[in-house]
Amino acid sequence: MKIEAKLARSRGLRGTVSVPGDKSISHRAVMLGSLAEGETVVENFLAGEDCLATMKCFMEMGVTFRGPEGGSLIISGRGLRGLREPCKVLDAENSGTTMRLMAGILAGQPFFSVITGDDSLRSRPMGRVVEPLTRMGAVILGRNNNTLAPLALRGGNLRAIDYISPVASAQVKSSVLLAGLFAEGWTYVSEPSKSRDHTERMLKHMGAGVEVRGNRAGVRGGGPLKGGKITVPGDISSAAFLMVAAAVTPDSDLTIKDVGTNPTRDGIIEAIHRMGAEIEVSNTREVNGEPVSDIRIKSSSLRGTVIEGDLVPRLIDEIPVLAVAASCAESGTVVRDASELKVKESNRIAAVVKNLQKFGVDISELEDGFLVRPGNKLRGAVVDPGRDHRIAMAMAVAGLISEGETVIRDAQCVNISFPGFFDVLKSVEKE
Ligand code: S3P
Repeated sequence: MKIEAKLARSRGLRGTVSVPGDKSISHRAVMLGSLAEGETVVENFLAGEDCLATMKCFMEMGVTFRGPEGGSLIISGRGLRGLREPCKVLDAENSGTTMRLMAGILAGQPFFSVITGDDSLRSRPMGRVVEPLTRMGAVILGRNNNTLAPLALRGGNLRAIDYISPVASAQVKSSVLLAGLFAEGWTYVSEPSKSRDHTERMLKHMGAGVEVRGNRAGVRGGGPLKGGKITVPGDISSAAFLMVAAAVTPDSDLTIKDVGTNPTRDGIIEAIHRMGAEIEVSNTREVNGEPVSDIRIKSSSLRGTVIEGDLVPRLIDEIPVLAVAASCAESGTVVRDASELKVKESNRIAAVVKNLQKFGVDISELEDGFLVRPGNKLRGAVVDPGRDHRIAMAMAVAGLISEGETVIRDAQCVNISFPGFFDVLKSVEKE
């Protein structure tokens, strides 16, 4: 069902909220829980569409689940060698994480499988995982000379490799490391900048041999993985929309509890702090190998900044909402080294520029990012997010600081990563 969301200028966000579980960690909990011995209990599991797609793929291979109910998901692991050949084509739907990480797992299986996705996912680059997995010995065929889904795989008999990835991508790194579980000896991946390391942390938490040195990570083949309890932290990528919303609206003072603050993911905190936001991170503790904190943020007057280099992978999914923060800053902002944004759920450089221009923002596209000039007075706009959840939520935040009404068409796409986004926003908005 298609829904439209309407937003008006906000008088501020106040109170204490939590956000749904981390998407990246929820995917990995399903995957590693399915491959583990015994039961895995996942608390605060994100029942968003992407993670449900991952669950459905494992159900096709014989894994049974109870839930998710009240945030709790119980997985009956089948062990590293316990998956069975799926009768049907696996459907990753809109989820790049599902397709790329599953490709690594399927590459290790001594059976035939086919995995596909929706229109967006079928246009996203898969050669980046097909290439190393083929080197490990998997047979993988796909459209466009094996670079686009659907992918057909015949796995098994993998050999360990020492792979130097040309992109800083956790999906590529994780795909190769997961395949490495099925190879003999140690499989390594090096990357140009460090991408999110949830796979390495969870593998270690479940008992696998893991080695990390700088931007190089390795896993020892053979596992075994032990089932147990995984409590998923709140998703910092979802919290980012609320953080920026509080920073840019007047009279805001918002606390977001239990947010994952893994140092490979916390670039948004660094960036908005650098822009002058009043932000406080407290109560940091570790939950199953992942740091978790409470974040308090108040209305702030912002200045522009430069986002580039190693910072980019640490906030890649937050760049659309960061562009909204930049639109309110008293000096200009440049984002560069971010070409990866062009191959996300949509071309996010083009989508951010086109949509913020509708709000009247002086923003222009660069080859590998964009430039936001200061002095913007935003006016409400009608946004078609092109089924991209993060574009829908970023433009909703722009609606909170705009004169007049903003309409987000097809706003149900927020369910991919943040079910209940509009209700959470409403719950903290000042009357
Ligand atoms: C993800 C990694 C990132 C991120 C995506 C989720 C993951 O993609 O953009 O939303 O869970 O590993 P890349 O690894 O392709 O940069």
